[in-house]
Amino acid sequence: MPSVERELLNDAPGMTDHARVISQLLTDRFSCRAYLDDPVPHDVIQTMFALSQSAASWCNSQPWQVHVTEGNATERFREAFYGRATADAAARKMRRASDFDFPAAYTGVYKERQREVGWQLYKAVGIEYGDRKASGIQALENFRMFGAPHALVITTERDLGTYGVLDCGSYLGTLLLAAESLGIAMIPQAAFASYSPLLRDFFEIPANRAVVCGASFGYADMSHPANNFRSRRATLEDVVSWLSE
Ligand SMILES: Cc1cc2nc3c(=O)[nH]c(=O)nc-3n(C[C@H](O)[C@H](O)[C@H](O)COP(=O)(O)O)c2cc1C
Repeated sequence: MPSVERELLNDAPGMTDHARVISQLLTDRFSCRAYLDDPVPHDVIQTMFALSQSAASWCNSQPWQVHVTEGNATERFREAFYGRATADAAARKMRRASDFDFPAAYTGVYKERQREVGWQLYKAVGIEYGDRKASGIQALENFRMFGAPHALVITTERDLGTYGVLDCGSYLGTLLLAAESLGIAMIPQAAFASYSPLLRDFFEIPANRAVVCGASFGYADMSHPANNFRSRRATLEDVVSWLSE
């Protein structure tokens, strides 16, 4: 199935000034995999979270809660997280555990899309096909939070089940746009969720809360090759089915 570049829809039917702003934000946003050291000021992070509180949720339940790091806490977290993941990688021993099952398999078109974006990243950073050592090192960057000055973890109330997770997805999408609108780069990371016990200890997450995913954020290092590609998207024909009669 073909995939396409994302593009500005400035001249599409019905576009308004508001829609052009949204289009710009949606087109500019990307998952950032290299950061500058500069932290995001505390009050700007507050604004990002304040904007994101407008996310929709079933029954307005707003099940999301966020743990966020800044300053020394980021460095303590990076040390614990990266230390554990690199030790696991060296021992070839998975000590990972997530609160929700990870996908059992990516097959068919999902496998194709996973491969495409994976190769875009490897090509950007100069990893050759089959170089498992280099791809392993790149994968570990997740746990170094790609050098970001901030990490966050999103949790849901366990009792709300699948729809609580869906509401957290709604929150995550809103958060990504809020960040982009403030010039903050971010990457959502399921990689965080694979170390739920470590996150629980570090952030003192209570038993009634389940870890949905994490994210790293800060200001993008645009000179880094990992930030030099853009993921593609399925065509509308692959996604939307019309019924008119
Ligand atoms: C729920 C979720 C989990 C993700 N987990 C990871 C991750 O662990 N590591 C990573 O490098 N990217 C992760 N991503 C980023 C995706 O790879 C990225 O969103 C996708 O390729 C589309 O690219 P874009 O965000 O640049 O538009 C995740 C994205 C989402 C929404």
